Amino acid sequence: MQRDTRWNWRQTDVTRLDLKDKQVAIVGGTGGIGRALSRFLAERGANVLVIGQIFRDMGVSGVKFIQADLSLMQEAQRVSALLPAETLDLVIFTTGIFAAPQRQETAEGIERDLAVSYLNRLVILNAIAPKLGIQRTDDSTPPRVFIVGYPGAGQIGTPDDLNTEKSYKAMSAHRNTVAGNEMLVLDVAKHYPRLRVFGLNPGLIKTHIRDNLLGKGSWKSRVIESLIGLLAPAADDYAQRIAPLLVTPGIDGHSGSMFNSKGQAILPSQGLTLDHISKFMATSRALVARAGVAVVTS
Ligand SMILES: NC(=O)c1ccc[n+]([C@@H]2O[C@H](COP(=O)([O-])OP(=O)(O)OC[C@H]3O[C@@H](n4cnc5c(N)ncnc54)[C@H](OP(=O)(O)O)[C@@H]3O)[C@@H](O)[C@H]2O)c1
Repeated sequence: MQRDTRWNWRQTDVTRLDLKDKQVAIVGGTGGIGRALSRFLAERGANVLVIGQIFRDMGVSGVKFIQADLSLMQEAQRVSALLPAETLDLVIFTTGIFAAPQRQETAEGIERDLAVSYLNRLVILNAIAPKLGIQRTDDSTPPRVFIVGYPGAGQIGTPDDLNTEKSYKAMSAHRNTVAGNEMLVLDVAKHYPRLRVFGLNPGLIKTHIRDNLLGKGSWKSRVIESLIGLLAPAADDYAQRIAPLLVTPGIDGHSGSMFNSKGQAILPSQGLTLDHISKFMATSRALVARAGVAVVTS
């Protein structure tokens, strides 16, 4: 991952962040990084709507919930219609799993990691982008989107076998989601210049993201997550560190940019040419169409 040293933004004091009246949606805000962000932003005064499978913050002031299984594109479409897109200031995508050792397929015929970690984001973001933030009372700053993934790591994906039907390896399958999310940032930033769209690479954080690969509660999972817990920051620490970036006006002129775990700008992965992105997106849309869901880009 390479720093983009051509520009910088000025860090602000996180304890002084006032997010009163900010309207936020976090797709994947029920666990891990998304949950840490949701709790922190709500604590600073934001109204946060979280989407996930299991709500763990009942009674937390400022946090509301929509239940959905986002491995299904039909569910992603339903969620898109439920989101109050017109009044949102900020949307963050954190939904994700890790590909399992054996290929898993959803009821809609899509490899599960691809569906959960990438394709539902494609569906939701393209559905809400045209109307995002258009009815806000304070429209002094453009509406923002942050896509959490692993951008800048050199992954460009395999559009010729995106659904891993020809061959399957957990890591290769997961790399398609990494590439897809980075391209989603670049693609939506290009098609919707009214929005500010960014990618976040949190680095290693102790969460439940590896459960599907390592086996939830298995000895392997316990050992690896304990080690990560010793070496890497907790989700709450990352949330605090990154929160000022989510609202700073200092990045408004840089839609399509990616940031590392410290919130520093990084360069996009090499090889993400316009042709490659266009092919990858077309393949992604075709896969989603199998589930009877159309992704339309303006
Ligand atoms: N943690 C790391 O080390 C790390 C490193 C690099 C990048 N990332 C990226 O950061 C993002 C967040 O990961 P995380 O570490 O916070 O993972 P996490 O703790 O496992 O949280 C994942 C979130 O996704 C939701 N989710 C999973 N399956 C779902 C489904 N079928 N339907 C709806 N929601 C579902 C979970 O909701 P429920 O709990 O309600 O099911 C949870 O809110 C991911 O994109 C990941 O790739 C993480």
